[in-house]
Amino acid sequence: MVERYNLNSADLNESFDVSKNDATVETGSTFVPVDPFEIVVFGGTGDLARRKLIPSLYHRFCDGQIPPQSRILAASRSELSRDEYLILIKAAYLEFIGGESFSEVKWQEFCELIDYAPVDVTKDIHWEELGKKLDATETLIRVFYLAMPPALFSDICQGLKKAGLAHKKSRVVLEKPLGHDFKSADEINEAVGKVFSEKRIYRIDHFLGKETVQNLLVLRFGNVLLEPLWDSNSIEHIEITVAEDIGAGGRGAYYDKSGALRDMVQNHLLQLLCLTMMEPPGSTDANDLRLEKIKVLRALSPIDASNVQEKTVRGQYVKGKVEGRAVPDYLTDVDVEESDAETYIAIKAEVNNWRWSGVPVYIRTGKRMKARRSEIIIQFKPVPHSIFGPDIKVSPNKLVIRLQPNEAVNLWMEIKEPGAGGLRLKSLPLNLSYADSFTVRYPDAYERLLMDVVRGNLSLFMRRDEVEAAWRWCDGILQAWEDVGQSVSYYPAGSDGPENAIKMLAQHGDAWAEN
Ligand code: BG6
Repeated sequence: MVERYNLNSADLNESFDVSKNDATVETGSTFVPVDPFEIVVFGGTGDLARRKLIPSLYHRFCDGQIPPQSRILAASRSELSRDEYLILIKAAYLEFIGGESFSEVKWQEFCELIDYAPVDVTKDIHWEELGKKLDATETLIRVFYLAMPPALFSDICQGLKKAGLAHKKSRVVLEKPLGHDFKSADEINEAVGKVFSEKRIYRIDHFLGKETVQNLLVLRFGNVLLEPLWDSNSIEHIEITVAEDIGAGGRGAYYDKSGALRDMVQNHLLQLLCLTMMEPPGSTDANDLRLEKIKVLRALSPIDASNVQEKTVRGQYVKGKVEGRAVPDYLTDVDVEESDAETYIAIKAEVNNWRWSGVPVYIRTGKRMKARRSEIIIQFKPVPHSIFGPDIKVSPNKLVIRLQPNEAVNLWMEIKEPGAGGLRLKSLPLNLSYADSFTVRYPDAYERLLMDVVRGNLSLFMRRDEVEAAWRWCDGILQAWEDVGQSVSYYPAGSDGPENAIKMLAQHGDAWAEN
């Protein structure tokens, strides 16, 4: 299929001052303050703003990274006063983050930056009022953060344009999900693109802001050891797992229409796949990095009606126990009578290029699984010939990159078990545990990403064609499911997912890594 959208050369060449935007500006606990900015958070009373955005800004403020001339303007439909809003966000901070990192004195200083504006983005009436609260001199960097359903992105951008609020120092942050298929994503991108040029659009995938996800780049390209082995000659298969123990309760209206493919695979898992499988980029500059990621997305083997049953498994949890606690089934969690939404998905993907031809990439994600665990496993091939004879098992090497929790990198090696009684081999990990090596607090992904928006660093954000390529691949799967009528298999909450997912790998002589 021909790509409808092509970045023009201006989009590719225009970039901000990268010397300042370098991803490595923060060293140790020294923070380089960003330039003063103002941020308008649409959806200011919503879950994301209360749980993540405001706390993240507070943490950056406490570390001295946000200059005191900056402003935070929360906008939402609720008719709240500024004082009421401040009470709301303080309560949310204490509930979701806790009191440990909270200082009343600092919080009061931070509140000086904050204001609130009631705005109904679907109406024409509030934009002028909003504008009056913004910097009239237009010298501050201006960030619009759209933490709202994507169906409203177009209205918001139109409202900003009509009221003349998007000036030359403005940029817009788009929260996921960016649409529910290629077509809707294209429409949103088109509407936003009428107001903001590509270099001013920050499509967020918060996984890219996670410390351990960024470490993937360092692990792969900061070490000489791995790269020579990083291909189909040495690697048997790759496994990417993002397992969650939480259910879909509380966001049923969204989740039941979305399911795991749209909610997790189209964005987070494909981003992990790209970082694991892309060619070395020339630098960490946004253009270099995103170009390599998109090549991977375009090389993904299409999944269609002819192979979807062999290559995908859909699951939905029924009641069970997570860590000894009884939990209800999905239908009860999201309060619907019946549903075919998948809360689990496993896919056998392939990246069709010179480096990866023939290497299966097993990806899976699920809610209400046994435990929260995100990891990437590189399963190496066995040694070509065992000098130890047929009776001694030589296990192949394995690299386990544990993204969360207990962040670590483990390289499993064969060693001789010491002692008499004949030769025995044992697999043991060279263990690089974050907790043992570092004592720093890991900033939330949003802290890093918010500061990158202000710095004008697009490296950890998705380009339009990247999002669209990911949708095209997922659309193929969605269509194929519909064509063949592939429904969900059930799995008990607190398990490893449906049996079929185990069988899918067994067909190829592989098995998911044990939890
Ligand atoms: C979100 C998904 O993008 O990521 C959620 O919509 C999911 O369904 C969440 O729970 C997982 O993020 P994290 O940072 O908690 O691993």
